[in-house]
Amino acid sequence: MHIAMAITQPDSLGGWRREVSRAAEFSSLDYWVEIAQVAERGKLDALFIADAPVLELPSRPRQAPKLEPIGLLSALAARTSRIGLVGTSSTTYNEPYTLARQFATLDHLSNGRAGWNIVTSFLGTRNYGVPLAAQPDRYARAEEFIEVATALWDSIADDALLVDKASGIYTDVTKVHPINHSGGYFNVEGPLDVSRSPQGRPVLVQAGASATGRDFAARYAEVIFSAAPNISSAQEFYGDMRRRIAAAGRDPGQVKLLPGCSTFIGSTEEEACRIRDEAVSLMDVDYGLIGLQEELGGVDLSGLDLDEPIPVDRLPEDTSALVARQSRPQLFKELALTPGYTLRRMIETHLSHNGHWNLVGSPEQIADSLQEWFTNEACDGIMLVPAHTPDGIEIFVDEVVPILQRRGLFRMEYKGNSLRDHLGLQRPDMQRRDGRS
Ligand SMILES: Cc1cc2nc3c(=O)[nH]c(=O)nc-3n(C[C@H](O)[C@H](O)[C@H](O)COP(=O)(O)O)c2cc1C
Repeated sequence: MHIAMAITQPDSLGGWRREVSRAAEFSSLDYWVEIAQVAERGKLDALFIADAPVLELPSRPRQAPKLEPIGLLSALAARTSRIGLVGTSSTTYNEPYTLARQFATLDHLSNGRAGWNIVTSFLGTRNYGVPLAAQPDRYARAEEFIEVATALWDSIADDALLVDKASGIYTDVTKVHPINHSGGYFNVEGPLDVSRSPQGRPVLVQAGASATGRDFAARYAEVIFSAAPNISSAQEFYGDMRRRIAAAGRDPGQVKLLPGCSTFIGSTEEEACRIRDEAVSLMDVDYGLIGLQEELGGVDLSGLDLDEPIPVDRLPEDTSALVARQSRPQLFKELALTPGYTLRRMIETHLSHNGHWNLVGSPEQIADSLQEWFTNEACDGIMLVPAHTPDGIEIFVDEVVPILQRRGLFRMEYKGNSLRDHLGLQRPDMQRRDGRS
């Protein structure tokens, strides 16, 4: 199975207030190097950095300032040697030429370990001076964006650079192709000014799970990061995506589905529960309520009893009509309608794992659950979202990974050098698109 590790915030719930938490170091390179090196010690496929270009202060007072992913991953490339480095970057707030050269550069700097998590963004509009476009428009722009970026990555052939001192020929210009793209969103001549990188192109990762998002992923993604709260919804997603990938004319074996998996791990189940309970006891309910309102698509949950279910008339009527996001509001709406989910439990769910699959247990129990999902067509592996750090990362690497290795489910050693090698993905052939309009 494949295991990537996503770090999205210092700690979940009130976990940043635990004594062991190093939340204050969230912008320090040493902290990130330690995390990346521990993950590499565990032979994980990749470190994944989620991102949105916005800091929602003062409305979400506990939101942590963070580092920009490309800069952070470029520094980590120099301090690690094998682990994949996946950064999130928006197709809504970037230009394809800028992004193509950034990721090609990261792929060079890391010797072939770069991945791009393609997001259409629902946060950050006020920093870019444009209103948030409707979801179909954002996906249409994303589609053209990827076509352009891909053409740019393919615009210089692998063997174009001769640097032949004897003949004086630096570049074989017959192997460098402008892309001459002229489309609805972008006009880009090319070629890229960064040579073809070790992986040819960075690994394309996508997260977005509405019907439009799924079709988009089926056409372009090589890794799909999803949110599924239980095995049956993960199986539904897995089957549906494999069908959509095949219908798009691609090999489903060349696309890895990694649902998020949030973990509280202790040496025993009791210890794991104790860590979770401590994080719950330290959480800020008012802050969690603000976030939950957003996760449900911008509803008003004020004045409700924390220990009662959310009344149906406070939930979004039709999530498919929402502009910013659809899949996560739908997921939270379904949870809110599930018996036993009080408003307080919904807030805990949002703050602790935000609708991802959530495991609390000993290393053996965690390994059992991962094996169950993996062997029952629910996933090709997981996007680990550690709920407590750094202890939750260390125990995963030092105690869960060896169990998976003993069971023959996870690699003992890295077999190749690139992220494509780790994931079993082919290096893409060059596709020439010069003259395209
Ligand atoms: C598991 C998951 C992780 C995501 N991570 C990010 C992220 O790091 N940054 C971001 O701007 N959007 C992120 N998104 C949002 C998506 O890119 C997309 O904009 C949003 O989900 C709306 O599309 P959808 O309704 O198709 O899901 C994530 C979505 C999912 C499902």
